[in-house]
Amino acid sequence: MMKIAVVVGSLRKNSYNKKLARALEKLAMGKMSFTYVDIASLPLFNQDLEADLPPAVMKLKADIESADGVLFVTPEYNRSIPGVLKNAIDWASRPYGQSSWAGRPAAICGTSPGAIGTAVAQMHLRSIASGFLDMPVLGQPEIYITYKDEYFDADQNVVNDATRKFLQGFLDKFASWVALHAAACRCAPRYSRLRRNISQGSARLYRHTTEPRFYKRRRICGFFCLWPA
Ligand SMILES: Cc1cc2nc3c(=O)[nH]c(=O)nc-3n(C[C@H](O)[C@H](O)[C@H](O)COP(=O)(O)O)c2cc1C
Repeated sequence: MMKIAVVVGSLRKNSYNKKLARALEKLAMGKMSFTYVDIASLPLFNQDLEADLPPAVMKLKADIESADGVLFVTPEYNRSIPGVLKNAIDWASRPYGQSSWAGRPAAICGTSPGAIGTAVAQMHLRSIASGFLDMPVLGQPEIYITYKDEYFDADQNVVNDATRKFLQGFLDKFASWVALHAAACRCAPRYSRLRRNISQGSARLYRHTTEPRFYKRRRICGFFCLWPA
């Protein structure tokens, strides 16, 4: 069964986004198993703590790295993502060159009572995830849900037929997306190592461009590339 690390960007007990995540978990039952990563126990990001990562950060990184894919379920705060979510993203992206996010297939969704249902926050998150974090993020369908109590029952089932169908379609696409990336790793056994090397290499390259050094020529998949010495 596919293992999905679920990152909910709200610490609120009765969070609508937690409710949405639970509803998705029910719809995905039998296909995907959800692990809710704990972002509440994380300290505020402090680069001084990187040398000896706090246990909550180690657990966060392990949960992400052991998953086949990542599902972000986020509220919108002031037209962006909540600080607690950014804090978790920053922690799991460290130490430099050892990001837990890189190459992991992801999907983004969210709900708020507002008319545009977290659309702006999701755009910010998409830019962070598919940009610097180097995650392949599912493009469609986009899930902007204007929260309404009547969409869910007390057991977190989606009672509105159209919403349930829509969310089921999203999960099916996400499952295919995760499977596609898993298949790429199987077909090309060195694919994930290569991706990580490229990711770490580009991190090193970035560092080296600020203090020019010599580069070695290295052959990767038949192509000669410049590699930091
Ligand atoms: C600091 C703060 C900023 C907010 N900004 C937005 C916003 O920009 N857009 C929006 O649709 N809702 C906004 N809201 C309302 C949230 O969508 C609402 O509180 C929602 O319930 C939060 O998600 P949750 O239920 O999963 O905790 C904001 C709420 C807070 C506390």
